[in-house]
Amino acid sequence: MKIVLKSPLDMHLHLRDADMLKNVAKYSSSCFAGAIIMPNLVPPITTIDDVKAYKNRIKEATKGDIFEPYMTLFFKDSYDYDFLKEAKNFVKAIKLYPTGITTNSEGGVSNFDIDNLRGTLEAMSELEIPLSVHGETDGFILEREQEFGKFYEKLAKAFPKLKIIMEHISDRHSVELLKEYENLYATITLHHLLITLDDVIGGSLKPHLFCKPIAKRYEDREALQEIALSGYKKIMFGSDSAPHLKEKKESFEGAAGIFSTPILIPALCELFDKNGKLENLQRFISDNAKEIYDIEPLEKEIIVEKNEFLVPKICDGVVPMLAGEKLLWRCQGESQ
Ligand code: NCD
Ligand code: ZN
Repeated sequence: MKIVLKSPLDMHLHLRDADMLKNVAKYSSSCFAGAIIMPNLVPPITTIDDVKAYKNRIKEATKGDIFEPYMTLFFKDSYDYDFLKEAKNFVKAIKLYPTGITTNSEGGVSNFDIDNLRGTLEAMSELEIPLSVHGETDGFILEREQEFGKFYEKLAKAFPKLKIIMEHISDRHSVELLKEYENLYATITLHHLLITLDDVIGGSLKPHLFCKPIAKRYEDREALQEIALSGYKKIMFGSDSAPHLKEKKESFEGAAGIFSTPILIPALCELFDKNGKLENLQRFISDNAKEIYDIEPLEKEIIVEKNEFLVPKICDGVVPMLAGEKLLWRCQGESQ
């Protein structure tokens, strides 16, 4: 059995920079037609020159593949209308991080007063630049996303024309918000569809499954699966694949981030197939994103066959999710 995916898109991806970029970019550019590239480099991407130069480095690293990097800026409450008007020519979204909440987010937002953000967000709304958000408070780890929900509601009400993308939702309460507010959209990762906190710390500690937001309860995973498998229009696939070297993960202070790129397409096929929903995968992995972001991706067809795939134990110094395990689907051309 085979299926064809048309122009798969990864709407939340960390490609890093320098050697890491050179090593990991191919895993995305070989099987996706494009990706939203997160701006949390050190230092973060905050100027148009940064965006252009980073895009060039990504193009260089993905040369020979059909792959469009959709660039983003790291949100600053100091961005004004004129800057944003120019930026719109080069970016597809602006990513807001609460300060210090995840890897490389130190320069993020600390004053969440709507009035403090109003100037930038009104300009973004008028210019139709989507706001992408890492939605977590600094509260108790299992409640961070739910607590952030109050802020999503405030934003959605204060800026009804602004497209707000709740990134990597991991909590069933976010699914409810999505249905309640017209201008809220979301990405869902592969890992939040597959694992719960039990997989991370319920047995032996699994550092390669540690990420922000942390995987949560069974009922959260169920709600995420239900909405993703249904092909719901306001949900897009965004892997949040976030590579860190093996030593940085298996460490005294392990870095947050799961490297899932090498398994994304086979594992999504397996999940959708197992649930009898393969017909909705095209919407989840491309069509919904095209509508939400109003983009026309490069044409690319990925053939995936129902055939065993042994996940590599390590990819260029980074341990992928499900390393050493067998999957039931594989991308055509992938070695066994
Ligand atoms: C991401 C990273 O490593 O850049 N880490 C993660 O755990 N997801 C940052 C992020 O998206 O939170
Ligand atoms: Zn991320």
